[in-house]
Amino acid sequence: MTPAGEGAGVRLSSPAAEDPSQDLVEGDRVELVTGAPAHGGHCVARLGGEHGRVVFVRHALPGERVTAEITELHRGYLRADAVAVHDASPDRVTPPCPYARPGGCGGCDLQHVAPAAQREWKAAVVRELLQRLGGLSAERIGELDPAVRALPGGPLGWRSRIRYAVDAADRPGLLKHRSHEVVPIDFCRIAHPRLRELDVTSRLWPGVSAVEAVASTGGDVTVLARAARGAGAPPPGSADADPAGSMLDEAHGGDRALIEGAPEVRELAAGREWHVPAEGFWQIHPAAADTLVDAVLALLRPEPGEVCWDLYGGAGLFAAAVAARTGARTTVVESSPAGVAAARRNLAGVAGAEVVAARVDAALARRRIAGPVDLVVLDPPRSGAGAKVVRAVAAARPRAVAYVACDPAALARDVRTFADEGWRLEALRAYDCFPMTQHVECVALLVPDATAVS
Ligand SMILES: C[S@@+](CC[C@H](N)C(=O)[O-])C[C@H]1O[C@@H](n2cnc3c(N)ncnc32)[C@H](O)[C@@H]1O
Repeated sequence: MTPAGEGAGVRLSSPAAEDPSQDLVEGDRVELVTGAPAHGGHCVARLGGEHGRVVFVRHALPGERVTAEITELHRGYLRADAVAVHDASPDRVTPPCPYARPGGCGGCDLQHVAPAAQREWKAAVVRELLQRLGGLSAERIGELDPAVRALPGGPLGWRSRIRYAVDAADRPGLLKHRSHEVVPIDFCRIAHPRLRELDVTSRLWPGVSAVEAVASTGGDVTVLARAARGAGAPPPGSADADPAGSMLDEAHGGDRALIEGAPEVRELAAGREWHVPAEGFWQIHPAAADTLVDAVLALLRPEPGEVCWDLYGGAGLFAAAVAARTGARTTVVESSPAGVAAARRNLAGVAGAEVVAARVDAALARRRIAGPVDLVVLDPPRSGAGAKVVRAVAAARPRAVAYVACDPAALARDVRTFADEGWRLEALRAYDCFPMTQHVECVALLVPDATAVS
């Protein structure tokens, strides 16, 4: 990496120094030695010694001596980008994407990290969160061994769903880190090859705020354009521009225009074909749905006759897989109308499957679903299930809960709530469903703790 702007206000951080962060402003440069990775895609460093102010440094690896440019100042911490590397980690590589750099696209956090080291980075973050937020001992975390497993296909070309933002000059691109500023790009290196072939990034998009593209595992490609606020006319090139046909997608919000493909795509997972709305939820990595289904089944071990709740069930992916083993009542709870409609269609032929259209917390509180239940799959959005839902699930006394988590911090907080309710984290698997980014998917098995004092 070329040292950038050395000498431009560079300050050294040393244990003996006074707190040098007091008079810093955005854009100042400091020299730092980075420590462990932390949740969010950065390494932790300190200014002015071990008790100094925390700096979260992007584009760095643990143990590197870097010049870092301050990007944000907060009361308790700073954010910075490593703009020059003086002592590089052996795990540092040249990012395959030219936009993955300080001030560039914010989509990938770890392009500068060798793929195996990305997985070690994520495992370290999961361990730290389970200890700090989940309340687990270092010894127990060692026993659980949350090594992060790679999915087939390598670190590039996996992303099957992408959302380009459109800037004021109508150019599509991706957003800078923690910003609404659009970075125009030629193509996204982690996007699926069928998405790269589209002409989405080579044209202008007047009247459009975002373009969403999907390449499904069933071979479909769909492009949707979201109209800019206040833009009355449909985006040029959209099918709705033809007065004979109404292709504006009323059923899914009304403000998206279908540019290419069908509003519904086919996905292949768990040994069958799924029909899901192009803008609805589906796992982004082409191998993720099968990987997570396998993990849930291996951890839950559903037995014939066992009743299951699939909470935050989407199109019913886990419900179908569990019901195939149990042959018994399996209830999906899903709140988005598109997800509910997809689940009802996809589970139509699955014996015992039913779909409840509700928020999970409301369905539990109002007893729209009630025990007895043997198995629960919890697959909440990034915010996690939360204490109310965890307590209600624990109170229903299932034999086991499989918790599928796209945010390990939310998982760790919910694991702590389960522990408060007398449950324990019995097993944990982690998967690199989002290579090149800081994100990691975990599947946790939680069971009532027979040793808990009640
Ligand atoms: C991470 S996705 C999982 C979907 C599904 N399990 C799958 O793997 O395909 C989370 C799902 O929860 C739904 N959702 C979000 N908040 C919800 C809530 N409070 N109650 C019920 N469903 C919710 C979303 O619409 C989305 O379908």
